[in-house]
Amino acid sequence: MSSQHPRLLTGTATGRDSLLARYSRDMHRDMQQAALHRKTETAGETALMEVEVATKAKSDFIARMSHELRTPLNAIMGFAHILSHTHKADQRTQEYTGYIKEAAEHLLDTVNRMLDLSKIQAGSLVLARDSFHVEEIVPSAIQAVEEQARQRGIEIVTELAGDLGPIEGDAARIKQMLVNLLSNAVKFSHEGGLVRIGADMESEQLALSVADNGIGMTPSQVQAAVSPFGHGYAVSRRGHEGIGLGLAFCAAVIHLHRGRLDIRSTPGEGTVVTAHLPTKLTAHHGKQPPE
Ligand SMILES: Nc1ncnc2c1ncn2[C@@H]1O[C@H](COP(=O)(O)OP(=O)(O)OP(=O)(O)O)[C@@H](O)[C@H]1O
Ligand SMILES: [Mg+2]
Repeated sequence: MSSQHPRLLTGTATGRDSLLARYSRDMHRDMQQAALHRKTETAGETALMEVEVATKAKSDFIARMSHELRTPLNAIMGFAHILSHTHKADQRTQEYTGYIKEAAEHLLDTVNRMLDLSKIQAGSLVLARDSFHVEEIVPSAIQAVEEQARQRGIEIVTELAGDLGPIEGDAARIKQMLVNLLSNAVKFSHEGGLVRIGADMESEQLALSVADNGIGMTPSQVQAAVSPFGHGYAVSRRGHEGIGLGLAFCAAVIHLHRGRLDIRSTPGEGTVVTAHLPTKLTAHHGKQPPE
């Protein structure tokens, strides 16, 4: 073609030639764009693969590390228990072994939460399919934060609707989610504050909420709070213990149940976190990582 239309290549002269020249230029440009697109696509695919490999490596590392930590932690807890129950254990020994057990339990809990979150992110956590009533998990969730609340004079009240039916889902993980929300509500409340646990049916979903009248968050702090290790106030909240896994875990658990986590917060006024949960699980629940 080029030998028949030499001027086409130089792009000069007649209208017909210039039309062909334009056509050729357009084609060349399209081919360049397609090549660039392919390059970008390949780069995108490579980046995605790298993220997948990194997520898998992180998840494997956390799984191995969790196992390494859990074995000695169980031994520490077990021997602390034995020590506190020997007939020679005086009051001071019992007090100290109590501290050892408490610290080991706290570490074990952190390790388990990291493991759970990493499994969810890797898409390998499958939910248990329990049928339960929300009233069954609330008392033990409160028990987990009761001492913390009592020490700071914070009252916890429950406002559960009377006609709540059974829920299908992972009872242990939903309870853990509630413990996380309660722990935050207590931790970020002022002394003498009030924490409310509410449960109601809204559009055929369970709306399980935890409200506090504590320090609250700005919209950007709320956004940061749900990402793993996200601290709403990285600086001014340094005094509060925690590594920032609680809300990320809650969001991930709710996501696996195909529900929705809603956070409403006003600085200086308080926070309401509501978990909207479908009452039934579908077959593929628990197999997808959060987006
Ligand atoms: N009820 C609340 N009121 C005010 N701020 C909150 C509340 N809940 C969470 N936040 C903010 O969101 C951040 C993230 O919460 P998250 O529960 O994920 O982590 P954490 O409580 O700091 O640590 P962890 O839960 O792992 O012990 C908190 O550090 C805090 O800044
Ligand atoms: Mg927390």
